[in-house]
Amino acid sequence: MHDLILPPYAPVFLDSLRALGYSAELAFADIVDNSITAHADCVQIFLAPVDGRCAFIDNGRGMSPEELTEAMRHGGNIMAQHRSDTDLGRFGLGLKTASLSQCRRLVVVSKRNTDAHPVARIWDLDEIERAANWVLLSSDDSGEVLKLPYATMLMDQGSGTLVLWEKLDRFINHGQTPEDAFQHRLDLIEPHLSLTYHRFLSASGKDRSLKILINGRLIQPTDPFFTKNSATQKLQVEEMRIDGHRISILPYILPHTSKLTREERLQLQNEDGGRAKQGVYVYRNKRLMVHGTWFRLHARDELSKLARVQVDFPSALDHLWKPDVRKANLELPVAVRDSLGRIVNRIVGQSKQVFRHRGRKTNQENFEYVWDRIETREGIRYNINRDHPVISAVISSVASTSAMPIEHLLRLIEQTIPIHALYNDMATRADIALQGTEERQLRAKIDELFDLIAALPAENKDLVLRSIIRAEPFSRHPDLVERLIKEKISK
Ligand SMILES: Nc1ncnc2c1ncn2[C@@H]1O[C@H](COP(=O)(O)OP(=O)(O)OP(=O)(O)O)[C@@H](O)[C@H]1O
Ligand SMILES: [Mg+2]
Repeated sequence: MHDLILPPYAPVFLDSLRALGYSAELAFADIVDNSITAHADCVQIFLAPVDGRCAFIDNGRGMSPEELTEAMRHGGNIMAQHRSDTDLGRFGLGLKTASLSQCRRLVVVSKRNTDAHPVARIWDLDEIERAANWVLLSSDDSGEVLKLPYATMLMDQGSGTLVLWEKLDRFINHGQTPEDAFQHRLDLIEPHLSLTYHRFLSASGKDRSLKILINGRLIQPTDPFFTKNSATQKLQVEEMRIDGHRISILPYILPHTSKLTREERLQLQNEDGGRAKQGVYVYRNKRLMVHGTWFRLHARDELSKLARVQVDFPSALDHLWKPDVRKANLELPVAVRDSLGRIVNRIVGQSKQVFRHRGRKTNQENFEYVWDRIETREGIRYNINRDHPVISAVISSVASTSAMPIEHLLRLIEQTIPIHALYNDMATRADIALQGTEERQLRAKIDELFDLIAALPAENKDLVLRSIIRAEPFSRHPDLVERLIKEKISK
């Protein structure tokens, strides 16, 4: 028996690695991960169709010529032995696999400190094919290096690294114009970075903060837990230790849509009303790895869509969570499954309560309802929604004297709804629908509405009017209501 050294055949091996399954946004994140690990607090990304290139410039600690060469090696050895507990890397692959999944030429320029010259290393798949070998283009001549696109930007800072993708062959799909292709990518990349790094982007104080700019525009963090909203319920954090390393589980219940700010509501709408993004959010060293899954502990459903759980684990426990090369998949460790399952069951129940209390399904979230449907252990109850604009206007108009008689009145109505008669009529009489809001009835209601707001100060009138017509019954006929209001005003 004798040993053979059998390295991979470079052109085929590299071509196969391109098929690891990176999307553009996952590839971008792999480059940003490296900048964070290098202690950069700013990453500038340039992506322009006219340029046909994509550039990442960070102000991290940079690399010496030897470090840069090793960094270009697939499965580089430089960090493997001494990764810190803030390192976002693991495999010694991301820089190469992410970049070459999108382009055929990867240029990396780095500068270690103010006095150092920038040096460059390049993997060019065409050169590798031509030479049928692992040919790494290399230059330590700063005059030559600074002629590379964007390289002079490094000279404005003490240290840092430029990653440049050229020959972007995977960026533009067949039949797309470069403008459309770049815009389409950006539409996915920006939200991905804004969510993946939200804890770095919003960090302050002693936590390490980060700025990411795309074409000069600052990326804002997307907080999936709406922690700035005081109506978000932050539940008890649970911690467990495995081999001395801490895993924490922090559940949140998001507020009902009626309590969200305009921006938060927009965010939720973009997330399929929250439905698609419910579930567990797992962070490795504060970087989001996986989200919007219940790990089969619970099925995604309409009523649990306000439940989100933040799970944090350190990279020291990678052997349990088993992240994949793209940092897009994790395995839920057996040791965590039971605790998480128990917590998920509890908070899913609480998320349902938010809806039951509101008595609404949120697919009609722009409306305010007169009646809340409430499920309790004793059964279903219907309560008058004190937040409905008309009802709250009436309550506050008498609040200065005493709100008690109004409260008595509301309770009396709630306790005496003729449920049985209604049920019987609904089942047997077609003409019950006449209670609906036809034009004549709406007109009468608008007359009443104008009487109601007549006493208000002029500057409040329009505000109150607008908020009331968003509620039932007006909300069901917005065009008709607009017309009737115009007629009323013009009289
Ligand atoms: N922007 C950067 N600044 C400084 N060093 C960097 C930068 N990018 C990469 N490196 C160095 O190059 C090495 C290789 O990077 P690469 O992304 O290929 O692997 P990794 O980050 O170690 O692991 P992973 O495959 O999980 O990303 C890093 O470990 C780091 O030492
Ligand atoms: Mg990396």
